[in-house]
Amino acid sequence: MKIAVLKEAAGETRCAATPETVKKFAALGAEMAVETGAGASASISDSDFDHAGAKVAARKDVLKGAGVILCINGPDPESVAGAGKGALLVGALDPARSAERINAYAAAGLEALAMEWMPRITRAQSMDILSSQSNLGGYKAVVDAASAYGRAFPMMMTAAGTISPAKVFVMGVGVAGLQAIATAKRLGAQVSATDVRSATKEQIQSLGAKPIFVENVAGIEGEGAGGYATEMSPEYQKAQAELVSGHIAKQDIVITTALIPGKPAPRLISDAQVASMRPGSIIVDLAAEAGGNVEGTVSGERVDKHGVAIIGASNLARSLAADASALFARNLYNFLSAFWDKEQGRPLLPDDDEIVKAIRLTQDGKVVNERLTAA
Ligand code: NAI
Repeated sequence: MKIAVLKEAAGETRCAATPETVKKFAALGAEMAVETGAGASASISDSDFDHAGAKVAARKDVLKGAGVILCINGPDPESVAGAGKGALLVGALDPARSAERINAYAAAGLEALAMEWMPRITRAQSMDILSSQSNLGGYKAVVDAASAYGRAFPMMMTAAGTISPAKVFVMGVGVAGLQAIATAKRLGAQVSATDVRSATKEQIQSLGAKPIFVENVAGIEGEGAGGYATEMSPEYQKAQAELVSGHIAKQDIVITTALIPGKPAPRLISDAQVASMRPGSIIVDLAAEAGGNVEGTVSGERVDKHGVAIIGASNLARSLAADASALFARNLYNFLSAFWDKEQGRPLLPDDDEIVKAIRLTQDGKVVNERLTAA
């Protein structure tokens, strides 16, 4: 079976395959075809793919007869018209915001599989693109903050005197937040962190950071289905705002990562709280694309308010294209290889499988995913 790897549209730096995954798919018996220039912005040359055993060619040749198409972002439906009927289109297809595109994939007879809807079950951990990319995002947020900050992170005792360590506060301790804590600690900062899920308290402590938690308020357990956060009660939100106000005024760097699936990002920092910070402080808002955790955040931009820089981080994994591609490509391989049928030499996706049901958007010319058909 032939697997096509697309070159992404302008603005995307990552590639959905690497020489490593090309070799692994070839070992399963697949014929690999990579579009010319697909890996260039992730530091993978056409000859790297060629040496790994892929055929490198123009899009129409790569698609011809392909049974699987690998991508980072969902391609323009017209641009993949040449693929085989029933071909699997696998990538981050952004289903919640791409209804028109998903309908067009169905009409073209493609079976679209949205990797961001991978369920949070143990079996699917190695296939989870949200985790692999947000881990890198958490790291990059701290590195970007350190580079924008006009002071050093670690305590330094020098002949000219002592520099005190930066105080870093991480709000939202999921995958990105945990990596942000670990990175800030490695850089020598004094780190504290908060979340609505009480299970994170121990994780924060185990990384050597200080947990800042609302106590003794009704509706305190913020963990909902699948390990995701729920929206909190008004009492909780008020108590959280008070606790955070006192703490934020003493911080130099704040990294916010709080997300609630299917809802706008919760507002965690008001303009007045930004104003309470010392001039020169930095906020990196990793929830910027979902509306932002900070009042005044603009996605993809740096806004300076009250002497504080608010960086509206947008898809930070793109700025680590080589590592982000390596992990994304492995997620795709881990998914397809888990369903690989050796006899037929292709992936078989059973209708009743929990993973397949969660991520399959289209099949046999129709949109079939319940999250889309119910909407
Ligand atoms: P996320 O990206 O949905 O949210 C980031 C963090 O923000 C979460 O920890 C959430 O609790 C927190 N948050 C939401 N509202 C908040 C508020 N008002 N104040 C403070 N914090 C708030 O979450 P992410 O990073 O995807 O992971 C959440 C959990 O799911 C983690 O425990 C992770 O280990 C688990 N997970 C499990 C997977 C699996 O088993 N396959 C895969 C991915 C994650």
